Amino acid sequence: MDFKKELKQYQNLINNELKKYIETKKCPEEILNCSMEYSLMAGGKRLRPILVIATYQIFKDDIQECMPFSVAIEMVHNFSLIHDDLPGIDNDDFRHGKPTNHKQFNEATAILAGDGLLNYAYRVISQNLEDSRKEDLTKKIKIFQEFSNAVNKMIIGEFVDTEVEGKQISEETLEYIHQNKTGALLTLCVRMGAILAEVSQEDLDKLTSYAEKIGLAFQIKDDILSEEGNEEILGKPVGNDRILKKCTYVSKYGLEVAKEKLEELTKEAIEELKIYNEKAEFLVELAKYIKERNK
Ligand code: IPE
Ligand code: IPE
Ligand code: MG
Ligand code: MG
Repeated sequence: MDFKKELKQYQNLINNELKKYIETKKCPEEILNCSMEYSLMAGGKRLRPILVIATYQIFKDDIQECMPFSVAIEMVHNFSLIHDDLPGIDNDDFRHGKPTNHKQFNEATAILAGDGLLNYAYRVISQNLEDSRKEDLTKKIKIFQEFSNAVNKMIIGEFVDTEVEGKQISEETLEYIHQNKTGALLTLCVRMGAILAEVSQEDLDKLTSYAEKIGLAFQIKDDILSEEGNEEILGKPVGNDRILKKCTYVSKYGLEVAKEKLEELTKEAIEELKIYNEKAEFLVELAKYIKERNK
């Protein structure tokens, strides 16, 4: 399989879908809408919606029912990035190779653009619930609940991450932060794809385990890139974790150990997909991509 080509196809699909939700009308809040669009369309990798769709495709082909949830999770993700970059949290000036939202607009606009994207996600899901067939409502309500619980975890993770800056923390606390601030949304994506496809409990457990492992791996790689990435390729600052004295696998154990942990988690994640054979080839390659990515 040509992974890079498939990844690009998924990204195009998601970008085209997201464009449908951009507000362009002339109105007093036009700048707020521009600011939401600015971040949503800034050039993210779209890994979260891709996880929803690719997981679903192990079991079913017609991905239409994945689309509203894919859009919603990407909105929440971008809300989390806008707020993460704010002066009160990570105070970063660049993302996706451009000024961060509060630098491009201003702090008030960035805060409200984040709020707007978070709420937009729920508007998209509630519209989908209204449009759903009665027989699909049970699974969709379950997804709605998982969605809101995962967003809650992300917020908790961001809080603890900020709270422990500069402190010595245990491995448990470090994992707690990673699992919440990053792992929860990534795990949610895989679970949404699986629940939409109506998989068995056994499949759901396996896929959840895959997701939890790539979720942790994803943040460890993010921390490695913050230490030794190429700022131009990355599109966001390198060395900022060090400046803010962030607690990461790199700061606690050093680059070597962080890389070993990343390697181990990736292997374990791929192991979980064995039973799906070539049906899960894309998700296998995605786990490798998360480990090897340079942005
Ligand atoms: C960055 O996530 C923030 C973390 C959770 C570590 P991504 O690297 O997936 O962000 P984009 O959307 O592709 O820029
Ligand atoms: C971001 O974590 C996690 C969320 C936005 C929920 P980081 O602060 O480590 O990610 P980057 O490096 O700014 O993308
Ligand atoms: Mg942060
Ligand atoms: Mg940050």
